[in-house]
Amino acid sequence: MSKKLIKNIGVLATPTGSYAKSGKEQGEITIYKDAAIVCENGEILGIYTGDTIPNGQFDEIIDAKGQLVTPGLVDSHTHLVFGGWREHEVPLKLRGASYLEILEAGGGIIDTVRNTRKDSFKELYDKSMGLLDDIKKLGITTIEIKSGYGLDIENEMKQLEVIREMRKNTLVDICPTFMGAHAVAPEFAGKPDEYVDYIVNEMIPELERRNHEEEIPLAVFCDVFCENSAFNVEQSRKVLIAGKKAGLIPKIHADEINVIGAVPLGTEMNAISADHLIMIDNDGINHLADSATIATVLPSTSFYLGEHFAPAKELIKRNVPVAIASDFNPGSCPSYNLQLAMNLAYLKYRMTPAEILTAVTLNAACAVDMADKVGTIERGKQCDIVIWKAKNLETLLYRFGDNMAETVIKKGEVIC
Ligand code: NIG
Ligand code: FE
Repeated sequence: MSKKLIKNIGVLATPTGSYAKSGKEQGEITIYKDAAIVCENGEILGIYTGDTIPNGQFDEIIDAKGQLVTPGLVDSHTHLVFGGWREHEVPLKLRGASYLEILEAGGGIIDTVRNTRKDSFKELYDKSMGLLDDIKKLGITTIEIKSGYGLDIENEMKQLEVIREMRKNTLVDICPTFMGAHAVAPEFAGKPDEYVDYIVNEMIPELERRNHEEEIPLAVFCDVFCENSAFNVEQSRKVLIAGKKAGLIPKIHADEINVIGAVPLGTEMNAISADHLIMIDNDGINHLADSATIATVLPSTSFYLGEHFAPAKELIKRNVPVAIASDFNPGSCPSYNLQLAMNLAYLKYRMTPAEILTAVTLNAACAVDMADKVGTIERGKQCDIVIWKAKNLETLLYRFGDNMAETVIKKGEVIC
């Protein structure tokens, strides 16, 4: 039994509950002043204020020194495991080449596929664990990671095995997603239907078999890039249905560059989240408003692509729960800094600090089906906490470019 006290919290800010917050509720968080948290064996036992702050025997006392405390951040959309980087694309981009033009010319995602296939399991594991070490320091205590740079059975499994090995060796909760439908594999260039058949008839059945036979599943979610030059609605539907039959929860990359029907497909599939939504139109918002699908917006990608920013405020107004994630990947967003995404959400989406906090904690936890354990500071949830170098949320969101996390606590352990 290990009992810990986090004392001297100036402002404790947290959403509450275990369901995704939308509309007005997204901006309604609970604030405790001069608070303390007690946790036992990695779980929150209670939150105390004023005179009720407990005295007693603790194995460890952590002093928050009057600063802001929030739940650990949840990054619900990353492509963290990949070989190489793509710095050579920046000059192309600056000369006017679009993201899809680079992909169509055999670069972009396909370039990363070549490098990911080349790397051994150990090379990928060491690189990814190194990245995760830096990500933790930013206050991220739960993270989703997708495959999608293997695009054949051997290399998709290699990526998923790397993710699983990472899960075994970190306290950070890692949520694994199969994304064999990230781009058409080079062997199937010009034959997307045949590649989809390969995913549906060979890749997913192999994944299902292994998910059943092995102790820790390789994937929990199935994602698809529903976009021109990637997969159309019909092809994406086939992949998500096959994933569902194999027990995988659907997610979808929707309306990132073009509106081709990805959002209605996502809601038809009951996707847990539809992600990007840069170009979403009124019809798409109507579909989300009538569904349980969470809108995950990725402001750092809009910034890096030089694109529009998703209509996050409109989504909130229309009662769609909004999560914010990094989309960390070597192409459209080579930054894992979720704090930067929060700054962009403040300035570009014009979300309020409270809406942003809900978006990177509770709503993101819901988007990775983890809200029963993480995403809020409440009795019974994991003790995942960030002590910030800021007195309140407004200060945290006003500062940018520096890592504002002072102390990161995961399951009651100080990890950074
Ligand atoms: O979410 N659009 C598809 N996937 C990623 C980009 C991946 C890459 O360019 O390597 C995204 O933006
Ligand atoms: Fe993505």
